[in-house]
Amino acid sequence: MKYGILSIAVASLLVFSGVSLAAEMPAAAKSKCLTCHALDRKVVGPSFMDISKKYKGDPDAVAKLVANITKGGTFGWKITSMPPRGMGANDAQIKAMAEYIAGLAK
Ligand code: HEC
Repeated sequence: MKYGILSIAVASLLVFSGVSLAAEMPAAAKSKCLTCHALDRKVVGPSFMDISKKYKGDPDAVAKLVANITKGGTFGWKITSMPPRGMGANDAQIKAMAEYIAGLAK
C-alpha cells in the first residue's frame, strides 16, 4: 500500500516535470534575451508570445526567426532596433530560441 502511493506520487511527478520541460525557455534566453524580452509582456522588445502569434501558421516561421534574430534590426514592431544576435547569442542558441518562439502560439 505504501509503495502504491509512492509510485503514484513518482508517476505524477514525472508527468508534471515533462510538461514543464516542454514549456521551458532555452537557457540562452535567460542570459541573452530577457534583458529586452519576456514571455508575455513587452519589455524593450515585443513579448515572445506576440512574436509567436505574428508567425502562427507560417511554415517558414523557424527559418525567418533564425534569420531575424541573427541579423537584428527592425521587423515592423516600431519599437527600436534589435542588436544582431541579441547581443552575442551563438547559432545553436538562436536556433533553440527560434524553435521555442515558433512553438508558443498554437
Ligand atoms: C537590446 C534589446 C534586445 C535584446 C538583447 C534582444 N532583443 Fe529581440 N528585439 C528587440 C527589439 C527592440 C525588437 C523589435 C524591433 C522592432 O521594433 O521591429 C526585437 C524583436 C525580436 C524578434 C521579432 C522578430 C520578428 O520577425 O518580428 C525576435 C524573434 C527577437 N527579438 C528575439 C530575440 C532573441 C531570441 C534574443 C536573444 C538571443 C533577443 N531578441 C535579444 C530588442 C532586443
